[in-house]
Amino acid sequence: MHKEWLADTRRFWDADSEFEAKYRRICSSSDFDATQDEDESRRLWDEETDRAIPQITHGIPISADWTCLEIGCGIGRLLKALAPRCGRAVGVDLSEKMVAWAGDYLADIPNAEVRLNDGCSLSGVEDASIDFVYSHLAFQHITLFEVVDAYLAEIARVLKPGGYCRIQNWRDAPKPVGESLKDLVRPLLGRGKYRSSRLWTWAEGKKVKFGGVVFHPREWRKTLRKAGLHVVDLEIGVGHDFWMWTTSRKPSNARR
Ligand SMILES: C[S@@+](CC[C@H](N)C(=O)[O-])C[C@H]1O[C@@H](n2cnc3c(N)ncnc32)[C@H](O)[C@@H]1O
Repeated sequence: MHKEWLADTRRFWDADSEFEAKYRRICSSSDFDATQDEDESRRLWDEETDRAIPQITHGIPISADWTCLEIGCGIGRLLKALAPRCGRAVGVDLSEKMVAWAGDYLADIPNAEVRLNDGCSLSGVEDASIDFVYSHLAFQHITLFEVVDAYLAEIARVLKPGGYCRIQNWRDAPKPVGESLKDLVRPLLGRGKYRSSRLWTWAEGKKVKFGGVVFHPREWRKTLRKAGLHVVDLEIGVGHDFWMWTTSRKPSNARR
């Protein structure tokens, strides 16, 4: 599905070096951009990770026998942090380079593994086999609504009945009138698929439209519900003004 989209997306995430991958793509901010120093970058990386983990696990009763699955895991930064708290930590990512570097990054973590995926499915993951699916800093980059829908259907498939899902994505934020007008004409110009107006900067002079699709919280709840996931918590503005963190569950009485 969406060959062209997958190729574009992979081109963006297949960074040229591990330094670029870690400190310009996975963790990208003006603080990271301001330094080339490896030690300082590593310090910022650890700081960001320490900030992210409580957001991901908020309200989730992770247990030592759980299998956790991350969508868009990069080189395994968060898997490494969560692996000591669960039985197995599995990640999927569409970038071959990220997956290759994950091999090194997770070499000494026996219960963590990363697999290459097609950017929209969890094929190879068995039905009703996962206790907790999470995704951080990945859905915010998905530029097609149908890819989000495809993932949600897959999450509902792989979760055990009663299993948990926690996703971070963009919430709808007021847009300037000019942008709203552009959104109206975009489909007429055949550019409907890249709906986001956000410009993502990952290096001096390199800008690409790579902000993902945006949901109004109400619309997002509906989308999760349609996929068969029951929303138990939706937080706005945690970690970033325009972030939404949602916890949902596969109903305990769902067919496996
Ligand atoms: C900003 S990085 C975050 C990595 C990791 N979640 C972390 O926080 O350390 C985003 C990652 O998501 C991956 N990604 C983006 N879109 C994806 C998709 N549709 N399916 C799978 N992986 C995706 C990218 O290749 C990249 O490794």
